[in-house]
Amino acid sequence: TEAAPVEVPRIKHGGFADEMRSAAMKLHTREQARGGEKEAEGPEERSVAKWEPTIEGYLKFLVDSYMVFYTLEGIVHKAAHPCYAEFRNTGLERSDNLAKDLEWFKDQGQAIPEPSDPGVRYASFLEDLSEKDALAFICHFYNIYCGHSAGGQMIGKKIAEKILDKKQLEFYKWDGELPQLLQAAREKLNRVSEGWTMEEKNRCLEETGQSFKYSRNIFRLILM
Ligand code: HEM
Repeated sequence: TEAAPVEVPRIKHGGFADEMRSAAMKLHTREQARGGEKEAEGPEERSVAKWEPTIEGYLKFLVDSYMVFYTLEGIVHKAAHPCYAEFRNTGLERSDNLAKDLEWFKDQGQAIPEPSDPGVRYASFLEDLSEKDALAFICHFYNIYCGHSAGGQMIGKKIAEKILDKKQLEFYKWDGELPQLLQAAREKLNRVSEGWTMEEKNRCLEETGQSFKYSRNIFRLILM
């Protein structure tokens, strides 16, 4: 078997955010990330080096990702549950940057597709969940931001090499250093979860599988 292709710099963390991270790392395949344990089922679970992305597929992925991030940013802005307000302005927000990227593709003469099923369904699932199950919602929030940032960055780099003549999209640029932003987000999660009971923590952890299922469907668009 092949070793994980890229190592993203690690920084020290701890507390509940660490448990969330372990739950997520286990659901990666060994080809995707060090610490992954899952067997690859679909092509999006193979090593990114083996992906054969297309511009059309990648644009679908970016449009659907825009939908998901835009929805998440609206949810924390509205804060139906007061604890969501903690997750405003993490510096990890992606919808403005994605909008710029879609503009760039348009300027290149690319047709921007309508949102497709995986993004539409995930966005409406998140809207719904955010109202009725804050613990589960926070799991999705964590996985989307931390997952797309850590793994996403290396995916973006590989794709840029293969189909974008190395053009670095705004999606993969942050104001500030990504490791620090991620660290601050983990600390927020630790703070928010401080008062949770074991059952509540488990509810949040248990949702990790769902979060992967929805996100995988969006990643899979890259290979269409
Ligand atoms: C971290 C790759 C999909 C959630 C990572 C890391 C890599 C990676 C290389 C960093 C590992 C490290 O620091 O040692 C990938 C690849 C994917 C993928 C290639 C292919 C599609 C996903 C999905 C989710 C996810 C679908 C969940 C929705 C996470 C989380 C982390 C992570 C939560 C930990 C971030 C942190 O350090 O706090 N991934 N990943 N990843 N990924 Fe993924």
